[in-house]
Amino acid sequence: MTLVAPSILSADFSRLGDEVDAVTRAGADWIHVDVMDGHFVPNITIGPVVVEAIRPRSPKFFDVHLMVERPDPHIPRFIDAGADQVAVHPEACADFSATLRLIRDRGVKTSAAVNPETPISVLDRHWGEIDTLLIMSVHPGAGGQEFIAEVLDKIREAARIKRAGGHRFAIEVDGGVKTHNAGEIVRAGAEVLVAGSAVFEADDYARAIEALRRAA
Ligand code: DX5
Ligand code: ZN
Repeated sequence: MTLVAPSILSADFSRLGDEVDAVTRAGADWIHVDVMDGHFVPNITIGPVVVEAIRPRSPKFFDVHLMVERPDPHIPRFIDAGADQVAVHPEACADFSATLRLIRDRGVKTSAAVNPETPISVLDRHWGEIDTLLIMSVHPGAGGQEFIAEVLDKIREAARIKRAGGHRFAIEVDGGVKTHNAGEIVRAGAEVLVAGSAVFEADDYARAIEALRRAA
């Protein structure tokens, strides 16, 4: 079954706790938290104190996506704040295996996020080290962008690598996921769909999440 992970980047930040509660009640599988540092991407969004504040509002799996340059010093803080999984970009790390180890050794799941222009071959030595592969289907930095169709090939390639190697990582797709493209994204091999604007811009979150699941 396809999982839906609403990205709270598109939520109303003035009522963030209530928004997390609302998507939880609406049937979200994971809560996707987009952390931006003003270096790896121009925008600055959420820090560990915010994760800590919203954590009690949902029992769901907190999927914390660090769009952060040299993330190592921040990782323990996000885990202490309640992350269940931490996604890091190989593009932002000096020693990717060491960064993944930092996450795993603290007892949470590891995720590798790759930008649209980054070939997934950068992960060739890391397939056994990750629980999730987060394939970016927009350029990281903002919600509400258009899905980059070329990324479908990368999703297929990831599914092939997973099958051929007998790997266990989940394939998650992030950016521009809507009901009109969820079907082909899942057919290409996606197992978890991140959806920001598709959920939070809807009047009825439950219906939006259900529509994505059905389309998938
Ligand atoms: C982009 C973020 C995504 C994004 C998803 O930098 O990583 O999670 O906010 O939002 P939508 O679904 O609106 O593209
Ligand atoms: Zn994200």
